[in-house]
Amino acid sequence: PKETPHWRPTYHFTAPQNWINDPNGMVYYQGEYHLFYQHNPFENKWGHMSWGHAVSKDLVKWEHLPVAIPEDSVWIFSGSAVVDKNNTSGFQTGSEPCMVALYTADYHDGKKEAQYLAYSNDRGRTWTKYAGNPVIDLHMTDFRDPHVIWHEPSQQWVMSVVFPKEFKVIFFTSKNLKNWTRVGEFGNQGELRKIWECPALVEMPVEGSPNKTKWVLMVSSNGTYDKFEGMQYFVGDFDGTNFKNDNSPETKLYVDYGKDFYAAIPYTDAPNNQKVFLGWMSSWHYIEAIKTSPWKGQMSAPRNIFLRQTSEGLRLFQDPVATLKPKKDYLVFEKKNFEFSKEKQLDGMTLFSQNAYMIEIEFEKKSASNFGLRIAQLKDKIDNKKILHQTIVGYDTQHSELYIDRTNSGVIPNNDFASVEKTNVNLKNNILKLKILVDKTSVEVFANDGEKVISDLIFPVEGSNMFSLFTSEKKVKVLSLKISDLSK
Ligand code: FRU
Repeated sequence: PKETPHWRPTYHFTAPQNWINDPNGMVYYQGEYHLFYQHNPFENKWGHMSWGHAVSKDLVKWEHLPVAIPEDSVWIFSGSAVVDKNNTSGFQTGSEPCMVALYTADYHDGKKEAQYLAYSNDRGRTWTKYAGNPVIDLHMTDFRDPHVIWHEPSQQWVMSVVFPKEFKVIFFTSKNLKNWTRVGEFGNQGELRKIWECPALVEMPVEGSPNKTKWVLMVSSNGTYDKFEGMQYFVGDFDGTNFKNDNSPETKLYVDYGKDFYAAIPYTDAPNNQKVFLGWMSSWHYIEAIKTSPWKGQMSAPRNIFLRQTSEGLRLFQDPVATLKPKKDYLVFEKKNFEFSKEKQLDGMTLFSQNAYMIEIEFEKKSASNFGLRIAQLKDKIDNKKILHQTIVGYDTQHSELYIDRTNSGVIPNNDFASVEKTNVNLKNNILKLKILVDKTSVEVFANDGEKVISDLIFPVEGSNMFSLFTSEKKVKVLSLKISDLSK
């Protein structure tokens, strides 16, 4: 296949070559964020599942390392890693704590999935598969994606793991990471039209209440219903064995309203008790049809997450990590307080030629009913017909909806990809505040301080680097606009 260097993201993670899906084993240890990931080391398609590996000091620049946990007679599916500080497992050999990974072994004959363990005594560089594997075997076909945390009050490890087709998260506890007891379960609430995968249970601080924490249970849901894979989350309490949902069982809360954000898991032990995650930025609906080469699949931008009180209850907010904030000299465009009432092209267009930037913009709604930005634009001719390639990030004031329209975004891998993603965003004082990350093949829109997020892939035709502001008709005001180059 033809290589596609113009689609290689600059600040989003991709493997040097070949396939990736879910992020795995998200753990911070001795100054390094580890990113393990679902990887096919041999081909640019799903298969031979193994844990690829990279480390980073800032979640932006990654050092690629050799495959950490390779396939053997089983495939190495998604899972998590912890630092066993008190050597509860007994696997520590030297003076430093070991890392322990819990993952799903998939017998890739459709017969069984069981939970396995591997450990590392050299900061995740080399791994030994535990001779006593599996550590949990229920003789089930669909039983996967263990996520492990240390539960301080009960002084034991807690694993969340799913029965995908039963829409259930099952909780297990352990004193030593090897022997697990099934304790509680949570399920049949929220999104029940798609199978459940990749759970993550985390205790999170509540913004503005220093002594308060709440538990968030995230679950990815995958299926053909509405052609949308998404991540839902529940907010509630966890007592060491059971999770209690604060909201009604019917309430569906989504982490992201785009089509390309899946399987995100927060980092364990991140500095300053910070909660930060990143997700697989693609969708099982069209990844096969995506023509990036020699790699396929990418991660989202890393995001800080926090719980904020809203009129509807506690909700998950997201903000790109601070290390993505451009340095001052990366600022390429800044303008304040201007109004426009017809299509407005911005100056300095060549500066966006890398299609790797952050836009921070505050619109004040005036009389316009529909306004926003057009990015990665190119005037083109196909079969003598003039067309305009573009991705639209807009706001529809009548429906109070933020949207990404990628129906004309360039190369459209398949029909499912030609989509418009929408979500309700209510304006405060008529102001719409957006932070938008563009990086070659991706657009991530954070609205009103990260209250709602839409993440979508795009595959612009080479040279699609015009950028403009638009209004359907009538006036809209820009209170501030800042564009920063993130291509360096
Ligand atoms: C989610 C998922 C997981 C599984 C992995 C296999 O995208 O299907 O449930 O462990 O991918 O690669």
